[in-house]
Amino acid sequence: MARSKFKRIALKLLKWFGITIALILVVLSIVVIVNLNYDRPSLYVSKEYLQKEYAGTDTQVIAQNLVAQMSLDEKIAQMYGEPYGSGMAKLATNFLVKKRFAHIYVGENERLGIPPWVLSDGPRGARVLGEDVEGVTTFPVGMARGASWNTDLEYRINQVIASEMRANKVNYAATPCINLLRHPGWGRAQETYGEDPWLLGEFGVAAVKGLEKHNVMACPKHFALNSIENSRWVVDVEVDERTLREVYLPHFKKTVQEGKPASIMSAYNSVNGEFCGSNKELLTHILRDDWGFEGFVTTDWLMGVYDGVKGVQAGLDVEMPFQQVYTPEVIQEGLDNGEISKADIDKIVTRSLTTRLKYALVNDQVNYPTSDIGKPSSIALAREAAEESMVLLKNEGVLPFKKQGGKTIAVIGRLADLENTGDRGSSDSTPLYVETPFEGIKKQQEAQGNKVVLDDGSNLERAKELAQNADEVILVVGFTHEDEGEYIIFSREQMEEAAEAGKSLGKVTIGGDRKDLSLLEQDERLIKALHPMNDDLVVVYVGGSAIDMSAWEDDVPAILFSWYAGMEGGTALANILYGDANPSGKLPFSIAKEQKDYPPFTPYTKKFEYGYYHGYTLFDKKGTTPAYPFGYGLSYTDFAYDSLVVKTHELSTTEPLEVEVNVSNTGAVDGKEVVQLYVGFSNSAVDRPVKLLRGFKKVHLKAGETKKVMLDVPTKDLAWYNPDTKNWEVENMAYEVYVGSSSAEGDLLQSTFVVK
Ligand code: BGC
Repeated sequence: MARSKFKRIALKLLKWFGITIALILVVLSIVVIVNLNYDRPSLYVSKEYLQKEYAGTDTQVIAQNLVAQMSLDEKIAQMYGEPYGSGMAKLATNFLVKKRFAHIYVGENERLGIPPWVLSDGPRGARVLGEDVEGVTTFPVGMARGASWNTDLEYRINQVIASEMRANKVNYAATPCINLLRHPGWGRAQETYGEDPWLLGEFGVAAVKGLEKHNVMACPKHFALNSIENSRWVVDVEVDERTLREVYLPHFKKTVQEGKPASIMSAYNSVNGEFCGSNKELLTHILRDDWGFEGFVTTDWLMGVYDGVKGVQAGLDVEMPFQQVYTPEVIQEGLDNGEISKADIDKIVTRSLTTRLKYALVNDQVNYPTSDIGKPSSIALAREAAEESMVLLKNEGVLPFKKQGGKTIAVIGRLADLENTGDRGSSDSTPLYVETPFEGIKKQQEAQGNKVVLDDGSNLERAKELAQNADEVILVVGFTHEDEGEYIIFSREQMEEAAEAGKSLGKVTIGGDRKDLSLLEQDERLIKALHPMNDDLVVVYVGGSAIDMSAWEDDVPAILFSWYAGMEGGTALANILYGDANPSGKLPFSIAKEQKDYPPFTPYTKKFEYGYYHGYTLFDKKGTTPAYPFGYGLSYTDFAYDSLVVKTHELSTTEPLEVEVNVSNTGAVDGKEVVQLYVGFSNSAVDRPVKLLRGFKKVHLKAGETKKVMLDVPTKDLAWYNPDTKNWEVENMAYEVYVGSSSAEGDLLQSTFVVK
């Protein structure tokens, strides 16, 4: 009797358990289906609405009218991405099930006919993919493009990125990343363009203009001083005002003033005690009041702002991607306490709507069909960018390898046949395909009648034998997304603990900062084992920033920085190694002889001071010779500089400095040279860098050709920031001007000019 009762209860429990599981599965399936098949509303104001209501009206007036019709809740709904729970479910489901980044829609108001906007990351190609799109054109990373020193190329690249974003139903680009590389260990170095504010500013402007050409809202990021990755949510960066204005902000200022981006993304870290997302000094006083920025500011994604009231007070427009602190409760409380006013909210909503509507009302001239994604001209541009960005650091008569048949070519290394386009954080994009170094070389060289052999280098003896018997050895070393990149960790607490401990707590993560700048042990071992085996050997480095090569650089005859070279990197590499393309990249950062020569850096910290000197300004000031100077890179031809003429020897503060110089290609092949101009401040009454980059031009010269290159610098760009007067001041004094092929003293012609 007792037994059968027990059986009955057990059966009942089993039944309920089964039903519960079934219900959970049904609910989960519904969640998955709904989140994968989310609606894709139009990003444009419907034409009828436009014609009926506001045809031809200024967008600020339209925005004001719309805001006047909104309830407080509707206004707050303009101030964040999607609601936390549903937004997170959508993002997570798409990531987990489809490995794709979902469209997160911001600020739609159906009642008033306001379309949403939607973001895609995209420093190296569109990240958010539309329905049925398999992949996009993936370019070399930002640092590679910075090494091209070719801003026209950057402009064209960003046009492709923007048009592919449009084809993927996106109208807001979370790019360019223009944070300054103050130390090569920074995990996201690959996303930005280099160590120098001038170079960064020029690239920032080119990128923004390229994106906005296709009616995509550009969003330079991360504002500001975001150059440590593993502590990015918790680190407070301390900086004095002069350093801030002269070193860490000029590129943002130039990008804002000349590029006129629709938006800016605030950084996660805090600056001088206040998180960037609620930092009034940065978001209002500097960005808007001083620089005249008219667009809207969004936070970096998740935990970009902690205090909604402070955010409003600081001038933060949109919390991304989900509502965390811009909630009706927080805002209402701020209003009730008198900490913020209704006018503050109206200002924020009007500001972002005014900008957004400019884009949402445009009648595009182009359709942006998905069939245009990865069109031949875009792929060709990816290849051109990869070729122009590779930097030849050392070449003892090895490169280019001779073009002839009957050879055996050994391509060796873990990374030799790896699809490796960079980190897997937000700057990831899904390439249509990736040509690896081995594939590119094989395709090209087999057609020439050569045998191309691959070896991953895991067995040193086998690799040595192969290297010894080959005619040429191409040794591919460096990093992947596991070694550097965006730090993927979902717990702020863990980041805080590690920062407090000042060290990694061993939690599983990928990407992040590099503490040690050497190559991985296995790569160093491979280089040491293989270089004695063959004189025709090149070390090809794949990575996003400087490395310490001191353990092996003297032993190898040739070193090429190929970066994360994008989907066409393999072909570009083959073209460079075999002379179909002449290297013309120059380092966008300095490489120190010893790691201690860089400014201090730690990935795990809660407080960090950014000093005035870093990069070449630090090396110059201390008189330290770098291993490879900023702006350095070899070519297969030689360039000579002469006849530096300063056309404006004495100028007033309103005239630009004008110089010209003859640059000659004295070698036997055509090539491109990056002509660099630096201004020197040895007569300054205050402490200033020895010299600063103030201009550059990339020129193509046929073998034997000479060109006169003109460069000019507006006098305002000679100024220093006086924290006492809070003004930019141009000193009346004699300045040095240097023009040449790198920042090294020996590579520069010198003259002087006077500002009266
Ligand atoms: C990154 C941003 C990125 C955002 C959206 C953040 O983690 O720091 O650069 O735009 O995610 O993917």
